[in-house]
Amino acid sequence: MEIIVQPTPEDASLIAARHVARLVREKPDAVLGLATGATPLTLYRELVRMHREEELDFSGVTTFNLDEYVGLAPDHPASYHTFMREHFFAHVNIDPGRIHIPDGLTSDVPAFCRAYEDAIKAAGGIDLQVLGIGTDGHIGFNEPSSSLASRTRIKTLTPRTRRDNVAAFGTQEQVPIHVITMGVGTIMDAREVLLLAFGIKKSAAIAAAVEGPVTSMSPASILQMHPVARCIVDVTAASRLARTGYYRWVYQQKPDWQKL
Ligand code: F6R
Repeated sequence: MEIIVQPTPEDASLIAARHVARLVREKPDAVLGLATGATPLTLYRELVRMHREEELDFSGVTTFNLDEYVGLAPDHPASYHTFMREHFFAHVNIDPGRIHIPDGLTSDVPAFCRAYEDAIKAAGGIDLQVLGIGTDGHIGFNEPSSSLASRTRIKTLTPRTRRDNVAAFGTQEQVPIHVITMGVGTIMDAREVLLLAFGIKKSAAIAAAVEGPVTSMSPASILQMHPVARCIVDVTAASRLARTGYYRWVYQQKPDWQKL
């Protein structure tokens, strides 16, 4: 895994946005895997700016979101459909027919999950998957103990994750217990993965994922087995890493063609 440590979340997000934009310019029909939550907000803001000011064209891009809460309608204010519309899709020229987000209201969850996997395959697979990380090490909503080979399915959120996500809902009781999420195996099938993490509260999860053993207790640690995984963190999220000096040095020594 390549670890890129940046002074601030803003610096890290701009690097991530540049990387996503480069892919979209090189491959106009790219398939992007997208995350929600606080972490990718600046990334989306910057992609929107590039669309408006630098003609970044999303008309041929296909997207698959990682997850959605079971029981929330697409127009629920805390749904991930709403999040993506408000922060990204409404502001770029993406074809609505190419947007995929799990359906929190599906009446047949297993059939929906199979169809979601089939749709990813039919689109040619995910070129670049953007990820955040939970304070407990989850990616997507694959909580600790998730099978590292799992596919899209229903999952039960941990009390900690429900607490972490309370802001969008008001009280913890209102945070849904179940979600539909891409599996760890689904995420690992992406040709490239970009994990973003900011803030001291992510430092333990990042240390476990990057420098700990590969274990389902830290689902993000499986990214150590991914051939093209990058982890872009700010200094506070990196603060519990043992080898930060080395990661910085590696990044500084990169030949220009290899820099993000
Ligand atoms: C969201 C997702 C989650 C979040 C993670 C971090 O689609 O899949 O894994 O990335 O919970 O959330 P934030 O960014 O809000 O700290």
